[in-house]
Amino acid sequence: MATTLLCFEDEQEAAQRLHHAFQELADDTFELSVVERHRFPDGELKLRLPTPLHDRVVLWRGLHQPNEKLVELLLVARTARQLGAFHISLVAPYLAYMRQDIAFRPGEAVSQRVVGGFLADLFDAVVTVDPHLHRVATLQEAVPVPQAVVVSGAAVLADWVAQRRPGALLLGPDEEAAQWVAQAAARHGNPSAVCRKERHGDKSVAITLPPVDWAGQQVVILDDVASTGHTVAQAARLLLAAGAASVDVAVTHALFAGDAIEVMRHAGVGEVWSTDCIPHSSNVASVTPVLAQALLAL
Ligand code: R5P
Repeated sequence: MATTLLCFEDEQEAAQRLHHAFQELADDTFELSVVERHRFPDGELKLRLPTPLHDRVVLWRGLHQPNEKLVELLLVARTARQLGAFHISLVAPYLAYMRQDIAFRPGEAVSQRVVGGFLADLFDAVVTVDPHLHRVATLQEAVPVPQAVVVSGAAVLADWVAQRRPGALLLGPDEEAAQWVAQAAARHGNPSAVCRKERHGDKSVAITLPPVDWAGQQVVILDDVASTGHTVAQAARLLLAAGAASVDVAVTHALFAGDAIEVMRHAGVGEVWSTDCIPHSSNVASVTPVLAQALLAL
């Protein structure tokens, strides 16, 4: 079925990669167009979609730095419906606001539920990569759309690590990372382990290493996301103090807020690798092929 793939100018390269990968898989019409975006002097946005649209619309929008992008999603999805689109998908390689899944204090917004509901009102399908789901089991619980599709960056990161640090021990810095570590380790038969983590604040975490003889180990910390870098840094300090030969990092989502890279390097981290879910100089592995497969299966 004919599809219009929409993107914004700042993500045109990534959308082009998806366009190319999709066309390798299918003969269906898959037309890429850039949404015109004008910012008024007072900060408001005016968007313009290409016309006519095909019946199916796919919007590519990575939701790192998400706040303004949520307004873009609202404007694009509602306008696409008015223009006659009957199936609208969001491809968000990084899905924001998934970590706040509970109110720790009365009155706190449960952002996962609020943003998930917002997306479900706009889209028929949401496709994302390794969303951070802690206390809910499936993406559909967090984003109740008819088609909630998760693909993983673990395999492509595992392939990269297998070339650069063959046989390395893959370490999840917290229990949630166990799923990605297990996938990656199974792919190339790496040893693996998972830490326990307690978070005390945005930049303060306590980590307990699992009981492994770390002496001489090449360790790759594998996680869905690094933000401030303090989780990785704290794990790296403990590993090196315990005798690890090297500590490198592989993450699906290179959020790397502020001085995250320096924080990790200062703790002794060697290489920092990521997928291209969020554009960053550390990108070494592409999730585009798995995203194209997921779109084809919708
Ligand atoms: C949450 O548990 C995630 O898996 C990451 O470990 C976390 O978001 C990393 O945050 P930061 O880099 O700020 O420590």
